[in-house]
Amino acid sequence: MFKELYTELTLHAEVEEDIVYPFFEEKQETREIVEESLQEHEEIETLLSELKVMPPDDEEWMSTLSELKEKVEHHVEEEEESSSPQRGRSSAKIRRSGWERPWKQ
Ligand SMILES: [Fe+2]
Repeated sequence: MFKELYTELTLHAEVEEDIVYPFFEEKQETREIVEESLQEHEEIETLLSELKVMPPDDEEWMSTLSELKEKVEHHVEEEEESSSPQRGRSSAKIRRSGWERPWKQ
């Protein structure tokens, strides 16, 4: 299950960074939003790689996952406010992936 989340989030970041952000970065009025989003991607990636190497019975596992959840939800909310349909789609997909699954499997 964690693998699924990992793949989903990594794919989301790749698509946005390769296709969506370069377009918005060129425009003065959206450049700042892109920079903020990129920073959030980086934070999410850091947490993901921490979880990836952490043994599932580590007591920090759940707190790190909660931190990741908060960051992703915040990020998704912000992107849903954006007018780009592509961003809306990928965010909705992440939201659908759900957080109630047994992630340690
Ligand atoms: Fe994103």
